Amino acid sequence: MRRLVLALDVYERDRALEIAECTADYLWAVKVNWPLIIGSGLNIITELKQVTGLPIIADLKLADIPNTNRLIAGKVFEAGADYIIAHGFVGSDSVEAVMELGRTILVVEMSHPGAREFIQPVTDKLIEMANGLEPFGVIAPATRPERVSYIRSKLKPGIRILTPGVGAQGGRAGEVLKAGADYVIVGRSIYASENPRAAARKLHEEMTGV
Ligand code: XMP
Repeated sequence: MRRLVLALDVYERDRALEIAECTADYLWAVKVNWPLIIGSGLNIITELKQVTGLPIIADLKLADIPNTNRLIAGKVFEAGADYIIAHGFVGSDSVEAVMELGRTILVVEMSHPGAREFIQPVTDKLIEMANGLEPFGVIAPATRPERVSYIRSKLKPGIRILTPGVGAQGGRAGEVLKAGADYVIVGRSIYASENPRAAARKLHEEMTGV
């Protein structure tokens, strides 16, 4: 089973397509964030889907009023995105506006140190929101496996946990899977490596043994 998600945070279209193509064998999905959309345009979603045949996650971290979330999500799903990542702190109506249009992943905690300031204190409420709305999955921090275990223990079974923060931010794939994550999101450790295919294979193999 493939549980690796490539965070393709490069600007250039050609480089993005090349890295995605050469790592696709080891991936469950490709995650596209603002750097690539700003650098290459929204059509990169359609192209990545054609080249890899994999699900595409649009990591827009949508955090606007329902109408604006709906306007953005509509175009992004239309371009071929299979999942959109949205913030929950703006309220359930904003999240529902995205969920009405397609599969949604809710941020319940973030991986960077600053997440302790505002997000972590409301993680319990965001988990409650996820349990009520039942999105495809939630984002939890691979940098804090104990938080992943905590989130797993509170989250309704069936809601997947996706964890960024492995590699460049210090998290370890094996550890976070044992803590209850379903998918591991990795960016720099793959795309900035001299051999992205070998880096993806190594992570995939590490995760298959768990
Ligand atoms: P790196 O290069 O650190 O890339 O492996 C990680 C990718 O994941 C995103 N990211 C997050 N997204 N909550 C999120 O929703 C988080 O806590 C989080 N931490 C990292 C980051 O933008 C990059 O695309």
